[in-house]
Amino acid sequence: MVPALVLWLAVCLSGTWAVDRGNFKTCDQSAFCKRQRALKPGQSPYRALLETMELTNTRLTLQLINDNNKVRLLLELYRLQGNMTRVKINELKPLKPRFEVPDVLIQEPPTEPLSLLSKDENGVVLSLGAESQRVIVSAQPFRLDIMEGHEVLMSLNSRGLLAFEHLRMRKDTFSYKVTSTVASVWDNIKWVFSSSQADPEAEKKEEADPANQAEEQTAKDDEEKVEDGMWEETFKSHSDSKPNGPSSISLDFSLPGVEHVYGIPEHADTLKLKTTDGGEPYRLYNLDVFQYELYNPMALYGAVPVMLAHNAQRTTGIFWLNAAETWVDISSNTAGKTVFGKMLDYVQGSSETPQTDVRWISESGIIDVFIMLGPTPYDVFSQYASLTGTQAFPPLAGLAYHQCRWNYNDQEDVQSVDVGFDQHDIPYDFIWLDIEHTDGKRYFTWDPHKFATPKDMLEALMVKKRKMVAIVDPHIKVDSNYKIHNEIRSRGFYVKNKDGGDYEGWCWPGNAGYPDFTNPEMRSWWASMFAYDQYEGSMKNLYTWNDMNEPSVFNGPEVTMHKDAMHGAWENRDVHNLYGFYVQMATAEGLIQRSGGVERPFVLTRAFFAGSQRYGAVWTGDNAAEWEHLKISIPMCLSLGLVGISLCGADVGGFFKTPSSELLVRWYQTGAYQPFFRAHAHLDTPRREPWLFGPENTALIREVVRQRYALLPYWYQLFHHAYHTGHPVMRPLWVEYPQDSATFAMDNQFLIGRDLLVHPVTEEGARGVTAYLPGKGEVWFDVHTFQKHNGAQNLYIPVTMSSIPVFQRGGSIIPRKVRVRRSSSCMENDPYTLYVALGPQRAAEGELYIDDSHTFNFEKKEFIHRRLSFANNILSSINLAPDAQYSTQSWIERILILGASKPSKVTLKTSDGQERQVEFEFDSSMSVLTLRKPGMNAGADWTVALQ
Ligand SMILES: *[C@@H]1O[C@H](CO)[C@@H](O)[C@H](O)[C@H]1NC(C)=O
Repeated sequence: MVPALVLWLAVCLSGTWAVDRGNFKTCDQSAFCKRQRALKPGQSPYRALLETMELTNTRLTLQLINDNNKVRLLLELYRLQGNMTRVKINELKPLKPRFEVPDVLIQEPPTEPLSLLSKDENGVVLSLGAESQRVIVSAQPFRLDIMEGHEVLMSLNSRGLLAFEHLRMRKDTFSYKVTSTVASVWDNIKWVFSSSQADPEAEKKEEADPANQAEEQTAKDDEEKVEDGMWEETFKSHSDSKPNGPSSISLDFSLPGVEHVYGIPEHADTLKLKTTDGGEPYRLYNLDVFQYELYNPMALYGAVPVMLAHNAQRTTGIFWLNAAETWVDISSNTAGKTVFGKMLDYVQGSSETPQTDVRWISESGIIDVFIMLGPTPYDVFSQYASLTGTQAFPPLAGLAYHQCRWNYNDQEDVQSVDVGFDQHDIPYDFIWLDIEHTDGKRYFTWDPHKFATPKDMLEALMVKKRKMVAIVDPHIKVDSNYKIHNEIRSRGFYVKNKDGGDYEGWCWPGNAGYPDFTNPEMRSWWASMFAYDQYEGSMKNLYTWNDMNEPSVFNGPEVTMHKDAMHGAWENRDVHNLYGFYVQMATAEGLIQRSGGVERPFVLTRAFFAGSQRYGAVWTGDNAAEWEHLKISIPMCLSLGLVGISLCGADVGGFFKTPSSELLVRWYQTGAYQPFFRAHAHLDTPRREPWLFGPENTALIREVVRQRYALLPYWYQLFHHAYHTGHPVMRPLWVEYPQDSATFAMDNQFLIGRDLLVHPVTEEGARGVTAYLPGKGEVWFDVHTFQKHNGAQNLYIPVTMSSIPVFQRGGSIIPRKVRVRRSSSCMENDPYTLYVALGPQRAAEGELYIDDSHTFNFEKKEFIHRRLSFANNILSSINLAPDAQYSTQSWIERILILGASKPSKVTLKTSDGQERQVEFEFDSSMSVLTLRKPGMNAGADWTVALQ
């Protein structure tokens, strides 16, 4: 949600519906970004002091010196298990510790031995073990090259843009006593003074005397120019006091052979990242951006500092572990060249290898970067998952349909919406309550008039096996009659302002405090507030939504917290991008604890960081009811999936504005095939429950919501897999077809797992779409008509309002549950229909995963996991987890074999040795064989033979 005041201003004054860019900084308005971006490549002042090198079994350390100011840095290099290299650079002797991001890595990453291959005065060569991988450390200027054989995979500081602003004393110490205006005038005078005094001879002498290092450093600092924005900075009416002065860091990476880079969400942009030459860098700084603009690099609600690079030979990744404001520049030597230009280069022999150069700039902290060397996309996903963990396995209901709006007014309203779904035969699992359900925006409370008996409401939902989500935001109303506020204040848990008092800002409740979620004691106290006896009116089927956790501060700089606000010893500047991550972590922990560790939580967050996948779901924030917003939901969720966050969705229908019924239907059709499927709408928009747009549109929406429910077994199995592997559930095509360059920039269609390809209709008035079916020699089956198409072609598909182009890959088996119920919990014992789509070799494989759908008991081996396999005319179910125990009442009701030929008989053999004939039907026009009621238990061993 958005600041009401901003909303009022935008609607009432400007009358336009676009982001107010003036509220948010450009790189030029962010002093460190401006300083850093002004540096020119090719002038690196850094030199590696090889005589300081120390090599233990698993770690190389080496000092780097900046020849301009003599400040020394310490480089640490580790080889990590699974083809990763970690490079850390910090000051050798910082004035005080610099922030290192805690809690994001799931463990100290296991290392592997590093060995020295050679060393001379120019540098050293180390072996990275696998496949002749080496790292070359060059001394002057300092650079790192990671090689495999003769190929350079990645270079660091190859453009000489390593820049590390060391912590320093503010020189004009006595000027602290005068007013700040005078102080900044003094800074300027001092700069003029000290730069006129610079003496290159004196510099040399000092360098010769290492014993005097500390003094030397102070002396050098005097000579460094003090620029505006180093010791304080203002943006609009906000001033940032910067008590630690300049502290930014930067490093460049070159990726030879790479033309496609992805990731670094969250941005409303294409899947393939664009070059930023001549424009703004991509920004990572968690912000509540009102009416965000599309196709630009502005920061949004969340930040995952992970970039993937891909070409037909290899996928690699860069994880820049830093939680401060960060900017990423991307340039390419082939950008802007036309195909003709590239041809001309080739003909004239002037063709260079394509290369992408990336530069990361952060305001504070240290350089701590993980280089993931793949080589396949799945290797990179596993590598990243080994660092930050995998997607939380949501309860099954979390993958079903969610009905939300700001706001369902009262208990009667909730009841009538609930009944509406039954009357219109549309399943749903969760109804959501936004901020208006509380008593005056005091979270963990209920409005005493509108929601007087929340337990009655929750019980009524429970009877129908449905659930609710209520919002709990991290801004806490400053009100001495509010228990939550009093406890946080008395325990000293609020974030502090720079003067040591509790930080306060404006948000929904008016004046609000912001709990310091970086404090583990605060988090465990917060978690305890979700206990049933603490959170009055809560029950087992009430789950949580954390909004506004960037955090949003209506009257703060860029609508967020002041950078000099204090989280214990650290400034918000250092920890900013972690705040939302911690809010969701503490909330998820609360939901787990209230059930005694039994139930899986469901928590939705708007702000996020690397590792947020461990705590629940993410949505793309306050989008709008516009066709372009529908389109961008695809690359936005694909980008999140690439960096581990699979449970992603966009507000179906668009949050702001009012969708036409055509847009609404198309959005349901798209959202039903994206991981987190929730309709949501702004307070000021007309109601849009699915049955309010006439019977035809109701029928269209009903149909697609039912399609979602039928596919829940497949979604659930994919999320179970994502929980174990970190593989994205919703995937770009290039992940599965890494050598097919036609797929590299594709973001108007996607895969769910490996086996379903979706090309949603996202154009107004569309009469057809052209879908790309990948895979030479593969086949794809239209899931609605069962028509078979060849892979590696662009297929034109005429569409009507009921069309959702979805294809099942030949060679796959997908389980569905096709009986229509009220909610996913009502489907527990329903039978399965297996869709066996034969590949060109007349074979197919799939899986079936079943557990209780909501507890952690699957971790105690209480589940069924089977491989379904069709080969040589025999379909069989094989136990993939013989040591696991679970029983299900679900049975196999029907089997469709797509691309089959007609058998003369079909025999079922069960594990007890029984054999019997199965009835079947054959549709020769579409080559579909349907086996009727084979009837075996879904957890049993069986085979079905076609003869
Ligand atoms: C490491 O890289 C090598 C060669 O590039 C590859 O064969 C191997 O599978 C990779 N291992 C992992 C764990 O990614």
